Amino acid sequence: QKPTILVTGGAGYIGSHAVLALVQAGYQVVILDNLVYGHRDLVEQVLQVKLIEGDIEDRPLLDHLFKTHNIEAVMHFSAYAYVGESVTDPDKYYRNNVVATLTLLEAMLSASIKKFVFSSTCATYGVPQFIPITEDHPQNPINPYGATKLMVERILSDFDVAYGLKSVRFRYFNAAGADPSGLLGEDHNPETHLIPLVLQTALGKRESISIFGTDYPTPDGTCIRDYIHVSDLADAHILGLEYLLQGGASEVFNLGNGNGFSVKEVIAAAQEVTGINIPVQECDRRPGDPPSLIGSSEKARKILNWQPQYPGINDIVAHAWNWHQKRHK
Ligand code: UFG
Repeated sequence: QKPTILVTGGAGYIGSHAVLALVQAGYQVVILDNLVYGHRDLVEQVLQVKLIEGDIEDRPLLDHLFKTHNIEAVMHFSAYAYVGESVTDPDKYYRNNVVATLTLLEAMLSASIKKFVFSSTCATYGVPQFIPITEDHPQNPINPYGATKLMVERILSDFDVAYGLKSVRFRYFNAAGADPSGLLGEDHNPETHLIPLVLQTALGKRESISIFGTDYPTPDGTCIRDYIHVSDLADAHILGLEYLLQGGASEVFNLGNGNGFSVKEVIAAAQEVTGINIPVQECDRRPGDPPSLIGSSEKARKILNWQPQYPGINDIVAHAWNWHQKRHK
């Protein structure tokens, strides 16, 4: 029998896809989620694994959880992830993303659990100095959200040296799409991400999609991002977990497709996939958006043998569309 994995934030967007991949790969899973942003119905109806409703800041809860379940490794997805909010309310981000994570790590160590898969972000790089961004690119986050993720990365490397805690840190580029079979998808409230907002516009839930900036130094003037399918992210987590279970050393990996699409290209893909004309409104730039973010994931391909299955923007948008039509009809 395969080991039991604790997934924090397993009721959230990326976490739930990772849980599905873990279950499909034969692992036992326990989810810890405070359901502030996570979805109970998806855990109960789709994932059908044990859900402990609670906070990673709750040390007695963690101690009890580790005493009563034979947890071999932790995948840590629970975090706040609104870049704009992190600027206006940084305390919320430092407390939840850093302080609470420290509590989780302390509880793990006292239970002698020393394998940790961590969700980091390309936002730790800040404004890129070169593209594609490799893992050794300097990390200078330009918002508190990115800073919290970088702090945890640093804690993890220090905890490895001092306490032997082995971690895989994944720096995601733009997570997008939905489970190809339609079981799971993206459901943020509030929603700020481009693809779900474009699809809400196609569904008639919004009048138009705002394009934040058309004067960037890119071919069509709109920002370019490296969209990576959430199920490909989930697969990478299984590979990262297995790498640690086999005794692998701590590592950091970018997770992206290595190619970028502009805001206008994403909207065009959505029009093609949905067959619906999507009204746009050209707006000013959104503060803090770098013109272009594209990641090199050669390292994950080489060391973890990771192979994204859905690199095309049309597949990513089609899977998201399939989910949105079901979820928001
Ligand atoms: N955009 C629009 N209109 C919208 C929403 C977004 O034009 O209504 C644009 C943004 O300006 C950006 C692109 O679409 O150029 C993608 O924006 P998202 O908000 O979907 O994603 P981000 O690139 O801002 O954010 C993602 C993750 C963050 C992470 C960040 C790293 O969601 O968690 O990448 O830069 F921090």
